[in-house]
Amino acid sequence: MASAAAASFAPASCGWYPEDISFPSGFAWGAATAAYQVEGGWNADGKGPNVWDTFTHQGGDRVFKNQTGVDYYDKIIDDLLENGIVPMVTLYHFDLPQHLEDQGGWSSDAITEAFDNYAQFCFRTFGDRVKLWVTMNEPYVVAKDGYEKGIVAPGIKEPGTGAYQTAHNMIKAHAKVWHSYDLLFRRKQNGLLSIALNSDWAEPLDPTFLADQEATKRYMAFCLNWFAEPIFISGDYPAIMKSQISEMSTKQGYLSSRLPEFTEEEKLMIKGTADFFALNYYTTRKVKHQENTHSEPSVSGDREAEQIMDHSWPCASGSSWLAVVPWGLRKLLNYIKDTYNNPIIYITENGFSQSDPASLDDTQRWQYFRLTLQEILKAISLDDVHLKGYFVWSLLDNFEWTCGYSCRFGLFHVDFENPALPRVPYRSAIEYAKVISNNRRTKSVEEL
Ligand code: BGC
Repeated sequence: MASAAAASFAPASCGWYPEDISFPSGFAWGAATAAYQVEGGWNADGKGPNVWDTFTHQGGDRVFKNQTGVDYYDKIIDDLLENGIVPMVTLYHFDLPQHLEDQGGWSSDAITEAFDNYAQFCFRTFGDRVKLWVTMNEPYVVAKDGYEKGIVAPGIKEPGTGAYQTAHNMIKAHAKVWHSYDLLFRRKQNGLLSIALNSDWAEPLDPTFLADQEATKRYMAFCLNWFAEPIFISGDYPAIMKSQISEMSTKQGYLSSRLPEFTEEEKLMIKGTADFFALNYYTTRKVKHQENTHSEPSVSGDREAEQIMDHSWPCASGSSWLAVVPWGLRKLLNYIKDTYNNPIIYITENGFSQSDPASLDDTQRWQYFRLTLQEILKAISLDDVHLKGYFVWSLLDNFEWTCGYSCRFGLFHVDFENPALPRVPYRSAIEYAKVISNNRRTKSVEEL
């Protein structure tokens, strides 16, 4: 099992001020974590190794062949519910069992069956209490960074083919699981299921230049829409993605496109397999047209769009890629509303990191959250975006993948040097708790 966002569904605000703009009744507030990033015990209690254990040179069958794992998650779910917190459970957050990777991992078609078996086990075991499911976290990152560039686990470098093949199987696996839930569990368990997609917002570097405008559309097509278009709309990849990859493949001497094709049956199977839109948002990019002159295949070459950080945007977090652009989230939410038929949206991740050592008085970080909450409130109340929940990444400081423990995203500080791992709330946690308990901000969005 991979990640859980614990959401507290807040009551309606009491409407003291008629001019108030407040978060809607039932808005879900939460904080997210991921198994590999917070649990530890990589080789404890019969857990077999996973791709990250191997990648980090430690070297987890997860949960369903392991009673201790089942008991552990049973207890977490029960404890959450007892405390009035609704769990949203992600089945896969980057930690593929190594034995599956050894059989080809996500690049092998056979994985769809294994993933479906695992998902069905989780529905059978936890579905009486878990009503919000996410099949997988950020397939874009797994495909592009894990199987194209090889900079995260499983570290495969197959530019121009690995990411497409992996994404293809992830989309099919997700769709298969949605149908299993729909067919075998939904009537009795009455839950909802989706997939967490990450996306930057993107703006043309020169908004008046057509080539940059087109490049920006391609940037979105090769990230968010790569997954969202088949799952939410058509069962197939965005047309621009298909034509770009086909054209580049021909130029590079391939006999057919490097982008695999879905059969007509698969398209029907994939289309419409999400009950809500789960979005992970962190930052925004400017985009510039970049002609592909390389004979070597790659996703970024196919995309013909270069991403640029605007240096006028504050970039004071502990992650060099994380420019602070809260207004990008409002635009992205509106883009999803317009492109995907105004779906119910949950922001399943949003956060700001601090470098180690991190100050408990994390003023800059609270500023990021405050501005972000203003933007999402505008999206809900002024733009009619159907946003139902917002989950901070992350509940606790944790293992930030290739950055290890040096980069802190938690609402709670964890002292990793102390074996008892003491946890202390940052100022952001205290302020966020106030927002949740009030479920309103103040008289106007400006005062947020
Ligand atoms: C991932 C998290 C990660 C966070 C911050 C997200 O893309 O889902 O696992 O810790 O970004 O980098």
